[in-house]
Amino acid sequence: MRLVSCVLVGLIFSADVLAQRPTVMVTGSNRGIGLEFVRQYAAKDWFVIATTRRPHQAERLRALAREHNNIRVELLDVTNGEQIADLANKYQDQPIDVLINNAGVSGDFMGPGQRFGSLDYAVLDTFLGVNAIGPLRITEAFYKNVKTSRQKKVVAITALLGVHSFNYGGFDGAYWYKISKAAMNAAMYNVAREAAKDGVIVTMLTPGEVAVEKVENPGPRFITPEKSIRGMIDVIEGLTLEDSGAILRYNGRRYAF
Ligand SMILES: NC(=O)c1ccc[n+]([C@@H]2O[C@H](COP(=O)([O-])OP(=O)(O)OC[C@H]3O[C@@H](n4cnc5c(N)ncnc54)[C@H](OP(=O)(O)O)[C@@H]3O)[C@@H](O)[C@H]2O)c1
Repeated sequence: MRLVSCVLVGLIFSADVLAQRPTVMVTGSNRGIGLEFVRQYAAKDWFVIATTRRPHQAERLRALAREHNNIRVELLDVTNGEQIADLANKYQDQPIDVLINNAGVSGDFMGPGQRFGSLDYAVLDTFLGVNAIGPLRITEAFYKNVKTSRQKKVVAITALLGVHSFNYGGFDGAYWYKISKAAMNAAMYNVAREAAKDGVIVTMLTPGEVAVEKVENPGPRFITPEKSIRGMIDVIEGLTLEDSGAILRYNGRRYAF
């Protein structure tokens, strides 16, 4: 009898601890910056909803989920309305403290298709759909989850190449990437204005130049994913409503639009 009550108390205690755990959702989490967010939040003992458009091929993410019982791998293409609705339905009662809109496409920055004079208009819809509209759609679909959480934070990973005040680092080309990130900043800025009434913070974060797997020859300015994401998690932890609508770098530096 005493053993049964101890087990019951133990179960109630662990359910309670799980319920108190903060939750983060990360889009595009099978590689690069998204995967590192999952790794670091899981190590901090958060509950992590890690989404990817190809769960069966996401070997490193699935290996990480086998090591940590606090990671759930979920199917999500940020341009697919049906998948978004299914996932929002599945987690309808789950508060999400931090929603990280990370999924993005960059294409070939230097390639002719993104240079004025030889722009490839056929790929523009993909850039806008993933980089600009994706974060807006995901934020709209999971807004109630964020609003009912304790921390109430939405983050969108932007890029200095989408920031006019930075003069795009003097970098030519990358038209579709620049335009889609600037459009995302505008979308999230508008959400930030409206979300303030609910106490929800919406902030754009630039990760720095990050030596993710796809970067073949990172130059001297590149930083490791470990450093970038550690910095962004620190920034996220310190966010207040005054940072809503702002563009912040991984080291906390603030940029005008
Ligand atoms: N690395 C940098 O230096 C840097 C600098 C500034 C900003 N950023 C931004 O940081 C974010 C992550 O970049 P990264 O360097 O980690 O790039 P990455 O290695 O190319 O990863 C991009 C991620 O987005 C996912 N994705 C692409 N289209 C998607 C869709 N329709 N639905 C769901 N997921 C989709 C990819 O999934 P698949 O594997 O299925 O393609 C992948 O998981 C991006 O928004 C990027 O613009 C990166």
